[in-house]
Amino acid sequence: MAFVDVKIKDLGTPPARSSKLVTVEIDGIKVKVPEGTSVLRAASIAGIRIPKLCATDTLKAFGSCRLCIVEIEGKKGYPASCTTLVEEGMKVRTHSERLEKLRRGIMELYISDHPLDCLTCPANGNCELQDMAGYVGLREVRYGFDGKNHLKLPKDDSNPYFTFDPSKCIVCYRCVRACDEIQNTIALTVEGRGFASLVKPGPTGRFITSECVSCGACVFACPTSALMEKSVIEHGMPDRSVKTTCAFCGVGCSFNAEVKGDKVVRMVPNKEGGANHGHSCVKGRFAWVYVYSKDRVTKPMLRKSIDEPWREVSWEEAINYVANEFRRIQEKYGKYSIGAITSSRCTNEEVYTIQKLVRAVFGNNNVDTCARVCHSPTGYGLKAAFGTSAGTNNFDSVLFADVIMVIGANPTEGHPVFGALLKRRLREGAKLIVIDPRKIELVKTPHIRADYHLQLKPGTNVAILNAMAHTIVSEGLENREFIEKRCDTEAYKKWREFILRPENSPEAVEKIAGVPAELIRGAARLYATGGRAAIYYGLGVTEHTQGTTAVLALANLAMLTGNVGREGTGVNPLRGQNNVQGSCDMGSFPHEFSGYRHVSDPEVRKLFEDAWGVSIDPEPGLRIPNMWMLALEGKFKGIYIQGEDVLQSDPDVHRVVEALKSMECVVVHDIFMNETAKYAHVFLPGCSFLEKDGTFTNAERRIQLVRQVIPPMCGKQEWEVVMEIAKAMGYNMHYNHASEIMDEIARLTPTFSGVSYEKLERLGSIQWPCNEKAPEGTPIMHKDSFVRGKGMFHITAFVPSPERTTERYPLLLTTGRTLFQYNVGTQTRRTPNVVWYKEDVLEIHPNDAEERGIKDGDYVKLESRKGWVILKAKISDRVAPGVVYTTFHFPEIRINVVTTDYSDWATNCPEYKVTAVQVTPVYQKPELVGVYTEKEFAGAEV
Ligand code: SF4
Ligand code: SF4
Ligand code: SF4
Ligand code: FES
Repeated sequence: MAFVDVKIKDLGTPPARSSKLVTVEIDGIKVKVPEGTSVLRAASIAGIRIPKLCATDTLKAFGSCRLCIVEIEGKKGYPASCTTLVEEGMKVRTHSERLEKLRRGIMELYISDHPLDCLTCPANGNCELQDMAGYVGLREVRYGFDGKNHLKLPKDDSNPYFTFDPSKCIVCYRCVRACDEIQNTIALTVEGRGFASLVKPGPTGRFITSECVSCGACVFACPTSALMEKSVIEHGMPDRSVKTTCAFCGVGCSFNAEVKGDKVVRMVPNKEGGANHGHSCVKGRFAWVYVYSKDRVTKPMLRKSIDEPWREVSWEEAINYVANEFRRIQEKYGKYSIGAITSSRCTNEEVYTIQKLVRAVFGNNNVDTCARVCHSPTGYGLKAAFGTSAGTNNFDSVLFADVIMVIGANPTEGHPVFGALLKRRLREGAKLIVIDPRKIELVKTPHIRADYHLQLKPGTNVAILNAMAHTIVSEGLENREFIEKRCDTEAYKKWREFILRPENSPEAVEKIAGVPAELIRGAARLYATGGRAAIYYGLGVTEHTQGTTAVLALANLAMLTGNVGREGTGVNPLRGQNNVQGSCDMGSFPHEFSGYRHVSDPEVRKLFEDAWGVSIDPEPGLRIPNMWMLALEGKFKGIYIQGEDVLQSDPDVHRVVEALKSMECVVVHDIFMNETAKYAHVFLPGCSFLEKDGTFTNAERRIQLVRQVIPPMCGKQEWEVVMEIAKAMGYNMHYNHASEIMDEIARLTPTFSGVSYEKLERLGSIQWPCNEKAPEGTPIMHKDSFVRGKGMFHITAFVPSPERTTERYPLLLTTGRTLFQYNVGTQTRRTPNVVWYKEDVLEIHPNDAEERGIKDGDYVKLESRKGWVILKAKISDRVAPGVVYTTFHFPEIRINVVTTDYSDWATNCPEYKVTAVQVTPVYQKPELVGVYTEKEFAGAEV
């Protein structure tokens, strides 16, 4: 009796949510399972195998194959166990002569419409059909293979990553349901009936021209080789697998990296992944092939001047050169003349060692992170309001939200697996408010329509959020009990007076933001009264001169309505890169140690001084923009840039180029020769995520292990290189394994004190804080009280951006991401993802295009006060008149040539989202523009 552990890998149907348990007897074994569990799942839990084909535990039961039939005492016939739910006292029989005969008959029908080429099939040994035929003891097929069947239908090879072979399809609908239930794209249908039925992607019947976003959910669900990864077809089935974490976006999907020999052949999403539960997007599932790109640099390189050619050198020579140069520069220009930039793509351990190198060895605090240019306002704002620089809830919490507000984020493109979860909740009936200058996909997509789309003018978030708060307060919709009990009431009183001022009324804001007052009021009422309300936001909130103010305004709204500290609520930043949260947690801001403790705090400093055996500078160091500024003044001469292409990601590129040119030792540590490396003196080859051990922390504070799957191509993990530079500079930094770095982080960081690799192995993942109070982590923060004590309302007066439109620059440019490319494209440009997105294009409203004589596909000049670029125009009503939009994935375009150097008042996060521009047609394709073709990724084969 009482089987609680999982005995069979695929339990057949998803778990039931009920806390009530019922006992059933299956083949004489008693098992206790939650009410609502299927008989098939209960049997699997009890270790009893029932054959199945159309059922899998990631999809709702469908009941089409009938292979899972059972006998139930007191019930007539042979019910399908996947669609039959357990009942108290139920007695089930899974095997009998009759059942076996019936199952063999079913399998016979399936096999009569299936090619008998198992030995040469790529799924041989890993095919559920083959497995079931063997299991039911099928020995002959009486029907012949001549009737109407799928056997001669052509393959669809159009998707670059997987094939569809209809001859192998058993029409089990698992792919159709995966696309519908998990991905929520609904790209697949089944046409026809009986033997003529056929899976069809879109009207053309080809994946590449359908709505398919290549997430791979259908391939994962397919029980045969009908849908199959091309890499497996080419190389055969993998022979081992290593659990690791995706290194693209901040969702942090868990994967099994499957390896054959010494080569990774497939990445399969991990069903136990806390953030993804077995789902993935095209990047994590397929676009990891950049790891094998022919462009990888695997040898250290040096040159004395950027005009000289690179020279390959040994690790020893490179490390000594860096150490000597940094020491020479410090002797000549002073100890503050060097610093480092850490990367949100690197592991926590790598980031930690870099900031330790700066503080303990360079002797200053000149360390900043690329998160400076994306989510630094999140850290600042959420710490000020709630007490912690992090999002409040876990991703799964969205399944409890009644109202979802998405502001300045495009989850289906930027955070696709979370986007799919969000769509699921919306299709279940949650209401949706979108605040965005652009009609993102969620505004209107099959089965989803935003209840409110506030299509505001770029740069007016704060005004809109204030007007929503004004509506809530003036209409008495605030949650007084929550405010009284949980918030600083003095601060609230002052804020209340401020928010009720007429300039914050929807009518006043309508004139600023261009959104009708009634829409603002409607959205505010829905957010305040629609039940549990959750906020999700992205860089469209933070990358503004008022980025921090907007984060504070979101926190105000959540506290005002009591939407913090419970499932289905919260203020949740969607972090762009895989380890933005972690790189900030690890102390890579110039003013903070790990765990967000200020360097000026003598007690904290002493803790680190004792542990590291050095004295630490009490003054905060330089932020990235200050590094450039001092470089231009001749005072900042050496920099170590870890995994970050500042020339593409920082604003005002000309200034960054001049700053880099003025330095005497620029060290770039990366896996590819990037744009920044053009101005470097030392190139240190780095490791891809498949080549190293460490941890990433995703947007929901979830720490997960990154495990080395293949050896580092360059011979050294990045933390080892940092350690050796420290040693060469005279400081004994030593670790034998990344886990020892985490042990040190845990010793010195109260929010991480309970974290260890052993625990991560055991639990799968941990959401910090993880300490004595929460030994297994904290999925939802601020439950009974805020970390800072009382929640703090902040006055959030709207101040317009200094960047204004004029007659010369009449349009506002805003930027964003696409699903198929990642950040500045260093990785994804080197993959077949270019099939979908091979150049940045400028979206322009039809009216603005017509006024300028621009047609779809024309090349246009996009000019701001800072510079100009040329790119292709795409006429689209996704943007409002007066607004243009583009992505920032391609170096040829270098969109940040045009962005300004205005930045957030509190954190210096650049204002990428508002640039006044003019757009004019150009009539010849200029040399400056290039597009990636298939040639570029030819070396990225696996
Ligand atoms: S790859 Fe994803 S989006 Fe495409 S058909 Fe399959 S499940 Fe749907
Ligand atoms: S393609 Fe695969 S998953 Fe889809 S219906 Fe055919 S066999 Fe089932
Ligand atoms: S959603 Fe993000 S973490 Fe998940 S597979 Fe895609 S890129 Fe990777
Ligand atoms: S597995 Fe139950 S009907 Fe197919």
